[in-house]
Amino acid sequence: MPMIEQSDEAGAIDPGNVEFFDFENDEEYRKDPQGRLNGLRDRHRLFYTPKGRKSLLGGGTWVFTHGADIRAVLQDPETFRSSGNRPFGKALGENWVLVPIDLDPPEHTRMRKFMNPLFSPKRVAELAGKVERRAVELITPLQGRQGCSFIEDFARPFPVTIFLEMFGLPVSEMPKFVDWVEAIIHSQGQVQLDAMRELRDYLAIVIEDRRQSPRDDLISLAVTAEIEGKALTYDELMGMCIMLFMGGLDTVTSSLSFIFRHLAENPEHQEFLRKFPDMIPTAIEELLRAYPIITTGRIASRDVDFDGIVIRKGENVACPLACSSRDPDEIDGSTEIDLTRNPNRHSAFGFGPHRCIGSHLARRELVVAVEQWLKLLQPFRLPPNVQLSATGAGVVALDTLPLVW
Ligand code: HEM
Repeated sequence: MPMIEQSDEAGAIDPGNVEFFDFENDEEYRKDPQGRLNGLRDRHRLFYTPKGRKSLLGGGTWVFTHGADIRAVLQDPETFRSSGNRPFGKALGENWVLVPIDLDPPEHTRMRKFMNPLFSPKRVAELAGKVERRAVELITPLQGRQGCSFIEDFARPFPVTIFLEMFGLPVSEMPKFVDWVEAIIHSQGQVQLDAMRELRDYLAIVIEDRRQSPRDDLISLAVTAEIEGKALTYDELMGMCIMLFMGGLDTVTSSLSFIFRHLAENPEHQEFLRKFPDMIPTAIEELLRAYPIITTGRIASRDVDFDGIVIRKGENVACPLACSSRDPDEIDGSTEIDLTRNPNRHSAFGFGPHRCIGSHLARRELVVAVEQWLKLLQPFRLPPNVQLSATGAGVVALDTLPLVW
């Protein structure tokens, strides 16, 4: 077997450590992404796939499958850097990067310190009433029906409405934002680039408007804030706004898709939560653990040896969080879905300095979604003979989720 040629910086890879795993088209992965990723651990501690992930810089990537390794990689930003991984601003010919995911310490630490209070449990608690209202507004029109397209009717618009609330934008903008999510996160090439440009132009106007006349919203807070005595630059503000768009919308939609499929396929779990709604927050943690949606990436900043397998400086690495959250060495009884599991040290929100800043908000949205669905609608299930599939490397989501009741 020929050696796999890598980028200029990297050397050749031993064929024994190569597996052609295609995050985009692998059939088993498309049917059961978390199960397929978790199964990779049976054969490899880590392996190299020339297919890579399109959201990385092209080319191949090393894939880690053990929870302990994934934690170690994500907790070591000096060796495995995040910057340079997602060149969206560059694609538009601009200088901004996604803030803070595309920064490494110390710049990352500085921005994270500024952003953390914007997503604190206290701020999320202040939003709670609005989150509930938005959920009810989307579910109420479904009450007279006997089924719906869960993703189009609920999972996609719901987080967009919360994002618009936080940014102080009118909810009437929702269809436009839903289209941008679709084009930017689920498309490629010109469609993706055009949508990114439109979103950038839209946000540039909002940023300027809030500079002139600040209000009570997240952008106003950011444009009027100072970090170490200096106002945030246009690039920092734009990078942060686009990051929140990319990090806060599709992730919630994707998680909702797997959580609701699980409830539709497991009527006993639905019944349990209808009977004991106080258990919903605990159950959400377990469903996040069982169905992580993110495979995140890093770039090695130096050669690193993992028991004789050498990752070279400049090579991509991928950390599927489905592997760490389902690893029996990390979680006792990891194969069983136990809605009462507590404590639950899952890794659906990642590890280390880049661990999800929006986790409190995400949890609130997921809890409210399940609470209100169970409260306002009858028991739901999948229609007969439906074949579900999932797509996505960095963030995986079900393509469709028809529900009937
Ligand atoms: C269920 C929903 C969500 C999941 C599963 C999720 C998961 C994650 C994960 C795994 C990371 C770490 C990525 C890495 O290490 O490369 C992350 C980072 C991030 N997430 Fe989330 N997320 C969710 C919702 C949200 C929401 C609602 C927001 C904001 C409103 C958000 C904002 C961010 C930001 C800004 C980062 C980058 C943090 C940093 O670089 O320091 N996420 N998320």
